[in-house]
Amino acid sequence: MTYKSVKGTRDLLPVDTTAWLHVEQLIREVMERFRYGEIRTPVFEETTVFARGIGEETDIVGKEMYSFLDKGGSSLTLRPEMTAPVIRSFIQHNLGEQSGLNKLYYIGPMFRQERPQAGRFRQFHQFGFECIGQDSPFCDAEIIAMAAEIYRRLGIHSTLKINSVGDPFCRPRYREALQSFLRPLLAELSEESRRRTETNPMRVLDSKDPRDRELTANAPVILDYLTDESREHFEQTLALLDDLGISYDIDPRLVRGLDYYTRTAFEFISSDLGSQDALGGGGRYDGLVQELGGKATPAVGFAAGIERLLIVLEKNGYAFPVSEPLVYLIGMDDASRTWAFRTAMTLRRIGVSAEIDYAGRSVKAQMREANKLGSTFVVLVGESEMQAQVAQVKNMRVGTQEGVEFQHLTSYFSRMNHLTDNTESR
Ligand code: HAM
Repeated sequence: MTYKSVKGTRDLLPVDTTAWLHVEQLIREVMERFRYGEIRTPVFEETTVFARGIGEETDIVGKEMYSFLDKGGSSLTLRPEMTAPVIRSFIQHNLGEQSGLNKLYYIGPMFRQERPQAGRFRQFHQFGFECIGQDSPFCDAEIIAMAAEIYRRLGIHSTLKINSVGDPFCRPRYREALQSFLRPLLAELSEESRRRTETNPMRVLDSKDPRDRELTANAPVILDYLTDESREHFEQTLALLDDLGISYDIDPRLVRGLDYYTRTAFEFISSDLGSQDALGGGGRYDGLVQELGGKATPAVGFAAGIERLLIVLEKNGYAFPVSEPLVYLIGMDDASRTWAFRTAMTLRRIGVSAEIDYAGRSVKAQMREANKLGSTFVVLVGESEMQAQVAQVKNMRVGTQEGVEFQHLTSYFSRMNHLTDNTESR
């Protein structure tokens, strides 16, 4: 009997995590500059947090959640996204009372029972950020700019699609107009869209069914129904994006798959991804805090899939930094092997990455291994070096070799560590 990771989940091995850590580090750096603080919430919540937060009628809540009853009979759900948990936590800890504006970011695993395919997993990872407490278009524009900044730093080309999905004042009028347009088409629409015409007509515009798309090509669009306030908010957001030189396509049919959005809704799309082309998406959700039991508080946010970002980076041949040992210590006999073992520990303590042989291999085999790992220096010690207390240090980059007294080795390599800095510069 052999075991495999569950369908739609993956192991990340050290060859993979180097790239992940690099991307995570870059995200954290950008978050620090925009003054966002990290929030970590549990990977599971009470099911109602998502059912109420994301909306009963959405695919996520209706079909994709990993929900289970625990031994005490409580219905719990592995988080399919982070906005609802962040708002649950915001309310629970009275963050709104402590500060007028809360800027929070997260990186972590999410779970959705979707059909796995390229770029779609059942356990996937998101990074995201939420700006809670202000309804200013500056917040909308900044959230979009942060996402764009991360993609810019990684050299990823993407298209930003943006729309306004209106507010509770314009929605009922639009909903009616859309339903009046859709009802005569019911017989021809897909089963799902037929159902949604009554429950959530805006989602019909998001149908992937080609026939549905054809039939709804001339459907009324929300942009023609916006209240003056929502229109102004949208125009100001766009003007701020123009000011920052961030280009966008207005897509009046863009409807996101979560029900909490109000006004701004947007998505970053990449042509380097297949049918799952959304790098990330977000928008404003001014009603969610109240929906989850808090005081009415405006908010806007964004989240993106890390797997999809890495797929694009790999396609682009992005040069991920490689971690190579600075020093490989080679012992030629028992005594010098023990010395190499001890000296590697000393070097690691002063911040030098050091590697040794654990298998008692020949000097030649150890040399081959040092080369394979890309070691910057090789330290060779045998019987005569032990006697003289002088190690032979070979610089693998330039091919030179010199004797360095044992007592000076740590200062020698701590100096070299600063000079070569072999983890950060590449
Ligand atoms: P979402 O559009 O559901 O939004 O997910 C955001 C991103 O997560 C997607 O664009 C995609 O890159 C990635 N993603 C989603 N599902 C999968 C999957 N099964 N496999 C791989 N990647 C996936 C949200 O989750 C909102 N919480 C975003 C938000 C934050 N809105 C406001 N604040």
